[in-house]
Amino acid sequence: MSNVVIVGAQWGDEGKGKVVDVLTERADVVVRFQGGNNAGHTLVVGGEKTVLHQIPSGILHPRVKCVVGNGVVVNLEVFLEEIAKLRAKNVKVTPDNLLVSDRAHLIMPYHQRIDIAREKGAGEAKIGTTGRGIGPTYEDKMARKGLRLCDLLDEKVFDAKLRAQLEEKNHYLEKRLGAEPFTFDEVADKFHTLAKEIRAFVGSTAPLLDREMRAGKSVLFEGAQGAQLDVDHGTYPYVTSSSTVAGGACTGAGVGPTWIDAVIGISKAYTTRVGSGPFPTELTDAVGDALRKKGSEFGSTTGRPRRCGWLDTVVVRDAARVNGLTGVTLMKMDVLSGTDPVRICTGYEIDGKVVDEVPASLEVLERAKPVYEDHPGWTEDLTGLTTFDALPNTAKSYVRRVEELIKTPVVMISVGPNRSETIVLQDPFAMPKRWQGK
Ligand code: IMP
Repeated sequence: MSNVVIVGAQWGDEGKGKVVDVLTERADVVVRFQGGNNAGHTLVVGGEKTVLHQIPSGILHPRVKCVVGNGVVVNLEVFLEEIAKLRAKNVKVTPDNLLVSDRAHLIMPYHQRIDIAREKGAGEAKIGTTGRGIGPTYEDKMARKGLRLCDLLDEKVFDAKLRAQLEEKNHYLEKRLGAEPFTFDEVADKFHTLAKEIRAFVGSTAPLLDREMRAGKSVLFEGAQGAQLDVDHGTYPYVTSSSTVAGGACTGAGVGPTWIDAVIGISKAYTTRVGSGPFPTELTDAVGDALRKKGSEFGSTTGRPRRCGWLDTVVVRDAARVNGLTGVTLMKMDVLSGTDPVRICTGYEIDGKVVDEVPASLEVLERAKPVYEDHPGWTEDLTGLTTFDALPNTAKSYVRRVEELIKTPVVMISVGPNRSETIVLQDPFAMPKRWQGK
């Protein structure tokens, strides 16, 4: 048995859904531990695409139990729609293979309306959120004003808490944001109906995980977003509102750190970002446009075009450190075919000095000029390759150089969207705890 955490090593959208799907072959339980339906995990199985926003990517494996942990914020309508869509594709979804924590917080309609109205009012200063109400939901959680799934199961408790919240939120919506308020009945009626549908899937998830791990089962923790979107370690305030790093798996699933055996960071072979905020290696030229086109870099949640740039190893090295990564998977290597040279950012020049970590201050980061190393490209189509040896020499040396720069071994390389288009260098479930470097 082994318990493995999968996290994004950049700004999200690295391809975590595919890696989780591939590694789920080896897992018994897959757990989401943070974020909500701001995430969009795209899986391609047998050429068929499935995008999941709330349900763990392990759901396509009928043998596996999927858990939505206490650290996740849940949009119930999206959750139930996803169940319906999966069932329409003949995927098994029952309370036996899907459980959501009774401690998880609900994304309420007022959270989403506040998110959208704030962004609209912020003009140039907007965060570029997904508009799903994620920030306002986590704000209420921390302010101890949130509504949880356990509240929903008791109509009286739910109604009382909702009434108190609506009073406050309607005032804020109308008076501060100039947005429409909600009536108690419209929200309460909707949630009473949703409660009936979700009830069977709600339970106590941390004790379930404890039982599974003590029974020797393997758990895969599926992170959403990426280290640079982490509320503590990311490019604040252009971040999401949860702990996207590996430590978040422990708090967001209710599992102690001593249970974690390996942490795998997912990174593209280049970099993308959606939403506002600094992005030192961004390419606003034809090379960036080509990466966007070839890599189909459009958001799976919002459809927004992703900003594209060279691989920034300052960012991935940061992720290796804050997550304690034991391995990295390099995604979309095939997209770099035909690009020559391929540039790697090794550090930032800030005010005449070269630094090798992402500074805390955005004002300082905005002055960062990437220091690049040029690497010879390759023209061969990589799709269909299944071994490291089969890669062109320049692609191999690119991978080896990246490993050196991020001080972490590359354990998998993705060369196409399908499960089968994956080169496995080392089994993440059988990895040493920490790599000491070469
Ligand atoms: P929020 O999570 O909707 O509040 O958005 C905050 C920031 O995180 C914005 O820049 C979003 O574009 C970004 N973000 C949130 N979720 C994802 C994701 O799954 N992939 C990439 N970016 C994300």
